[in-house]
Amino acid sequence: MAGLAGEAADCRRCDLYRAATQVVFGDGPVDAPLVLVGEQPGDQEDKAGHPFVGPAGRILDQALAEAGLDRSRLYVTNAVKHFKHEMRGKRRMHQRPNQGEIEACRWWLSREIALVQPAVIVALGATATRSLMGRVVVLVREGGRPLTWADGRPGVATYHPSAVLRARDEKARTRTFAVLVAALSQAREMAV
Ligand code: URA
Repeated sequence: MAGLAGEAADCRRCDLYRAATQVVFGDGPVDAPLVLVGEQPGDQEDKAGHPFVGPAGRILDQALAEAGLDRSRLYVTNAVKHFKHEMRGKRRMHQRPNQGEIEACRWWLSREIALVQPAVIVALGATATRSLMGRVVVLVREGGRPLTWADGRPGVATYHPSAVLRARDEKARTRTFAVLVAALSQAREMAV
């Protein structure tokens, strides 16, 4: 995986490299049974060079622990490898990647998946789901259930951990977190 990550460091497949600090490639063992795919690195990930190390990563870690999964045994990556943002004053505000950026970066995601050969792939949120399915999927209808990705591999689609952070109140937060934990538990069962 180190060779692929090294190649990605010079990626110019879309323009997102221009404003990002660095490429944030996936982390984890190459023989992981489970691959988790997020959207794109956030502000902290962009600086650290590792996926899911900021606030969304802390929610993900809690959900993984509740689902009985050990993050060090999983391969964690993103659909898009550079931080897309706009400046508001001095703050770098997250912007959702567009279809062209998702498609350009699928080249890397497909290669990561081909190397890891996971039993199950979990999409965290709409961007990852779209990248893996090659089309928009309605998460409310298909989320949390076993499904088959466009490449034929089994998987689960669920909320992005940041949906827990954005929930409007405590009740919604608890419910969204429970859905995320249930999907990760489902993926764990599928991977054994
Ligand atoms: N959100 C993501 O989708 N990925 C990260 O790595 C961090 C936040």
